[in-house]
Amino acid sequence: MFNRISRTLGGAALAGVLLSSGAAMAANEPGKAIAQQIGVPWPAVIAHRGASFDAPEETVPSYTLARELGADYLEMDIQRTKDGVLIALHDDTLERTTNIADVFPDRARQPLSSFTLDELKRLDAGSWFNKAHPDRARASYAGLKILTLDEVIDIAEGGKNKPGLYIETKVPAQFPGIEADLQKKLQQRGWLSERPAAAKGYVNTAHMPGRVVLQTFEKPSLELLQKSMPNVPKVLLLWLGDGSIAASSDATFKTSGAKDKAAFYASQQVKSKEEFASWMDWAKAHGAVGTGPASALKNGGDQSYMDLVQPWMNKMAHDRGMVVHPYTVDEAVDFKAISSNGVDGFFTNRTSELLKFYGRPAKESIDAILKRNGF
Ligand code: G3P
Ligand code: CA
Repeated sequence: MFNRISRTLGGAALAGVLLSSGAAMAANEPGKAIAQQIGVPWPAVIAHRGASFDAPEETVPSYTLARELGADYLEMDIQRTKDGVLIALHDDTLERTTNIADVFPDRARQPLSSFTLDELKRLDAGSWFNKAHPDRARASYAGLKILTLDEVIDIAEGGKNKPGLYIETKVPAQFPGIEADLQKKLQQRGWLSERPAAAKGYVNTAHMPGRVVLQTFEKPSLELLQKSMPNVPKVLLLWLGDGSIAASSDATFKTSGAKDKAAFYASQQVKSKEEFASWMDWAKAHGAVGTGPASALKNGGDQSYMDLVQPWMNKMAHDRGMVVHPYTVDEAVDFKAISSNGVDGFFTNRTSELLKFYGRPAKESIDAILKRNGF
């Protein structure tokens, strides 16, 4: 089966909550009433791997910046070390975002799961960003560490803004039992029961019923998350082909002969409305309160995928009482176009830009926040 990670290398008590179609919803904002029922912010600003446009993904500055800017959620990909510690990292290997080739040259291509936490903490998870993005580089990013889930939670809890946690089980088949591990950690940290409210005027997601949202591309993992944490909101992430929603064509990027991956993805269509509806029905029946669809971006790029946010698709989710949170959108032109199709927030690498689009700009600049926090 297609490894969804590879696409980025180039670049309440809620169970049982079911709204009847259209009930108590504004005609043009059907997701708003659903979000209120679920207890998640609307529209939601989900800081994808933190404020990862401006700082190395899933590190202290990216999550601190997202929190201070005012993101509703800190988004993270959870995996597990050889010695059983939950950590936040997107790729299941370490080559793209660390100096593994320097520190463990013989093990550079080994999966993350073959390293202990102590070994992972020897890696530099920031210098790659400075090389890849010289225009956004900061000397202070060199030497940043991979974070444990505990450390990300510390950041979420550490400011006046109280964002929620939007947690993906990444490549869960590699980590049997990770859903139960996650339940234990969230329970231990007090995130499975009511948390104190933020002061007035600050982000308050951690106090809401949807303080944690669990997300996965994998149906078996959604079932296990539902079993472990039936009362925590869950989102099924959507992709086209390769074992996910069936596409109208069997073509892959390689077999298609296409030159541009974003253009190839954008050309892909869902096999039928019935096929898409069957995924919506499955998600709802297995505890999802939302979907996380891929989206095609106007200017293409590494994050531009299939267009799974067409109005009829979003309506199918809303008709089943589910919100729609597309990934991963950074530009105003796309915020506007995709919002007009009826979605309920975005995963974004650019928290500040999405907050501006939603008319609630951050009070402080990115540079000022980073400097104030020692970066
Ligand atoms: O989790 C939503 C979005 O992050 C999915 O894409 O590959 O960035 O985890 P990815
Ligand atoms: Ca993710």
